[in-house]
Amino acid sequence: MTILALETSCDETAVAVLRDRKLLGSEVASQIAEHEKFGGVVPEVASRNHLVHAPRLLERVAREAEIDISRIDAFAATSGPGLASSLMIGASIAKGLAIGFGKPYLAINHLEGHLLSPFFGETEIRPNVSLIVSGGHTMSILVRRVGDYQIIGRTVDDAAGEAFDKIAKLLVLGYPGGPEIEKHAIKGDPKRFDLPRSMPDSENFSFSGLKTAVRYLLPKIVGRFCETPNDERRPTQTPYKLPEKDLADVCASVQEAIVDVLVRKTIAAARKHDVDLVTVSGGVSCNRVLRKQLDEACKRHGLEFKTAEPWLCTDNAAMIAFAAMLKLDNGASSNVTEEIDPNLALQ
Ligand code: KG4
Ligand code: ZN
Repeated sequence: MTILALETSCDETAVAVLRDRKLLGSEVASQIAEHEKFGGVVPEVASRNHLVHAPRLLERVAREAEIDISRIDAFAATSGPGLASSLMIGASIAKGLAIGFGKPYLAINHLEGHLLSPFFGETEIRPNVSLIVSGGHTMSILVRRVGDYQIIGRTVDDAAGEAFDKIAKLLVLGYPGGPEIEKHAIKGDPKRFDLPRSMPDSENFSFSGLKTAVRYLLPKIVGRFCETPNDERRPTQTPYKLPEKDLADVCASVQEAIVDVLVRKTIAAARKHDVDLVTVSGGVSCNRVLRKQLDEACKRHGLEFKTAEPWLCTDNAAMIAFAAMLKLDNGASSNVTEEIDPNLALQ
């Protein structure tokens, strides 16, 4: 069984081919440079770029996999959640190929792709508490089996990756902010600044208070406040370039605050739901401090910890192909009339 999958839910164009759980080819074209100048992802720019990149990646992956596209057994694409105009491109291409070659089409939930990615290439998906942490999502999920998911907690405001990205912007660091903050945090003191851990007693997450706390902390460090008409001492909206040591300490303290909350709530969820396995996926799970602290906390509580290789944690089509393969194994496929859904829920 050979599956070709496309992932175009946001600003990454990705194509992959999987044969019997073995990856034959996988390509991702990032659009970071195109969106950086606008300070965020511009949906129309993203979809136009998907149109440019997808045919090129299809050819390249087919070459890598040494397969003619006419020999593919099923075509899959991310059908949500994501940007409507981006989702449409990948889904339309996969549907077109499925119709053209008379093969099944599979509409895959992006979040399901992430949460299954720690099991990439394996046959058995064991029950686990899954933490998905990306730029758009932060949720903990009880995974009973493929397709049987119960959401335990989710963010009530910003996602963890979004917090990394927004705080990095305040610090005049590049995009995406997560890897930048991780890099500067290496030499920093995570205990120097006491930053908030919001909603400690809830299963949900909240990160916007952390961003606000950092916004108020930065002018104190540099001793600079903006002038306002009524002379209030308010932090300016403008970003702050900090001296190297202060920057490292802020980054380390921010990272510690985010990781601390993620680890504590995930372990609590695993204990409450009586599973012996914890998994983590999504772009933020590339973070080495998060991986290390989750791993250590799992060991302390007698839990097994599993994550995917970093290239499988950020957006890619291999995870979509893998989710599609597991669904096909269960006899499922989708109708080509199935619409994309920007707000697609997990279930
Ligand atoms: O899963 P992903 O590639 O895209 C979404 O589905 O959102 O995640 C991207 C997010 C960005 O917010 C980025 O800053 C964050 O993952 N990220 C990290 C790291 N690498 C990527 N956050 C913290 N530490 C990292 N090393
Ligand atoms: Zn993602």
